[in-house]
Amino acid sequence: MLTKKIEKILNEQIIKEGYSSNLYLSMASWADKEGYAGIAQWLFAQAEEERTHMMKFINFINERGGHAIIPAFDVPPSSFPGIKELFNEVLAHEQYITGSINDIVALTIEEKDFATNNWVQWFVTEQVEEEASVQIVIDKLNMLGDKNMYMFDRDIMGLRGTSEE
Ligand code: FEO
Repeated sequence: MLTKKIEKILNEQIIKEGYSSNLYLSMASWADKEGYAGIAQWLFAQAEEERTHMMKFINFINERGGHAIIPAFDVPPSSFPGIKELFNEVLAHEQYITGSINDIVALTIEEKDFATNNWVQWFVTEQVEEEASVQIVIDKLNMLGDKNMYMFDRDIMGLRGTSEE
């Protein structure tokens, strides 16, 4: 059984993971429209992955006797100043998500909810991978400079955001 505090913070994470999915979907749509097929593919895959994260929270809350609430999401931005800026925004967003996962971990300790603590460790690991995979993309971008965006777009086509889990 979840305590009210844990149920609340897990429900707040549904909002964040769902928003992440929509944010990356919006970025993907923009990149697609701008002609960056590879970047769009990476972002579409990332959006799918965020949806699976949201689903994990929904299922876990209900499984533990809580009530997962399906929220409305803020409208994400629909245009972006450029590719570099876009990926810097992805990294900053993932760092924000890591912070909120850490807040959940801290609360599970405070509440002595070791089952949720154990469950949420998957996300701790996942966030390390997510930040690293965005950093790889940013490093590539920095290496190529402002030119060669076409090459970058082809190069990223084979890269996946994170693991398929
Ligand atoms: Fe679900 Fe990218 O954090």
